[in-house]
Amino acid sequence: MANLEVKKLAKSYDGKNKILQDISFSVKDGELVSILGPSGCGKTTTLRIIAGLLDESSGQVLVDNKDVTKVPVYKRNFGMVFQSYALFPHLNIFENVAFGLKMHGMNKSEIKTKVEEILEITGLTEYVKKYPAQLSGGQQQRVSLARALVINPQLLLMDEPLSNLDAKLRLKMREEIRRLQQKLKMTVLFVTHDQQECFAISDRVMIMKEGKIDQFDTPQNIFHHPRTEYVARFIGYDNFIHFEQTQLIDKHRIQVKGRVFESVDECKNAKLLTIRPENIEITSQDEAENVMSGTIISNEYLGQSFKYRIKTDLGEFQVEESRKKMRLVGEQVSLFLPAKHLHALSE
Ligand SMILES: Nc1ncnc2c1ncn2[C@@H]1O[C@H](COP(=O)(O)OP(=O)(O)O)[C@@H](O)[C@H]1O
Ligand SMILES: [Mg+2]
Repeated sequence: MANLEVKKLAKSYDGKNKILQDISFSVKDGELVSILGPSGCGKTTTLRIIAGLLDESSGQVLVDNKDVTKVPVYKRNFGMVFQSYALFPHLNIFENVAFGLKMHGMNKSEIKTKVEEILEITGLTEYVKKYPAQLSGGQQQRVSLARALVINPQLLLMDEPLSNLDAKLRLKMREEIRRLQQKLKMTVLFVTHDQQECFAISDRVMIMKEGKIDQFDTPQNIFHHPRTEYVARFIGYDNFIHFEQTQLIDKHRIQVKGRVFESVDECKNAKLLTIRPENIEITSQDEAENVMSGTIISNEYLGQSFKYRIKTDLGEFQVEESRKKMRLVGEQVSLFLPAKHLHALSE
């Protein structure tokens, strides 16, 4: 396995529009890094350039400090897994996994040993004689993973590999990918638009916005300290209070429309506060700081909890509350926004 370094990578498909805007990042040996972002932000473009399937406009890709930017795809020795399984329908599972090794000119007995070993690791031994059409989606995706791993890749690149699987299987497969990655100490770059998926399996997460990296950190740090409104929204901080620097009372407190809010973060140079729906408490008091009143305008049953939209004079707020009975639309409530959950953002 290897270290990956991407330096000032830029891409334009038409010579005008920059799809990737000089992005730089590195993935350490044995690390699983996810690229998270909405459709169209440039995730696949990034991955395809690293793989060598697409030419960069400028910038460099380095593996263990060696510049591979101009190395052709078949000489890079990277494993690749895509959303579509891309298996050969007329080859059985053994032959599908063996295909890359044959291309490399490996001899028959060596191929047999390698393929059997990787089918064992990926739990596919019993399907060795079957054809892709005889397997479920999850099993087929496992075959494409086995095929990527059998060449002992320096780096494994995965582009939304779980998107075609149903919810239950996605959970199972992501655990399996993480387990394999740790067992084989693989360096993995994993692309997804699913926040939960990426937080669950990654050592670090890169959040992309319009061809740029907005935040690159551990899942915990991103979850507790989103850097921008974009990141915060993307990971479920649905509530925002905008303010001006003139509304600062002191380092950690602001006053908006006659209400005082204290934040765990410094508010100097910040311009909005944010809090997750599950961290707002519905209370009966209406006097102290970090409290405001509102009216429930919609209610939704989520199973473990209820989700409310609440209209206040600071805009609409989303609140998630677990209790036995659902509150009704029209009910007047007070919201308490604990300072420890109220984060300040500067952009
Ligand atoms: N072959 C191409 N030619 C022109 N534009 C492209 C091509 N591939 C992707 N794009 C554009 O580049 C942007 C990023 O695409 P992509 O990297 O596929 O995003 P993501 O994988 O995050 O959804 C999109 O606006 C997309 O329309
Ligand atoms: Mg994509």
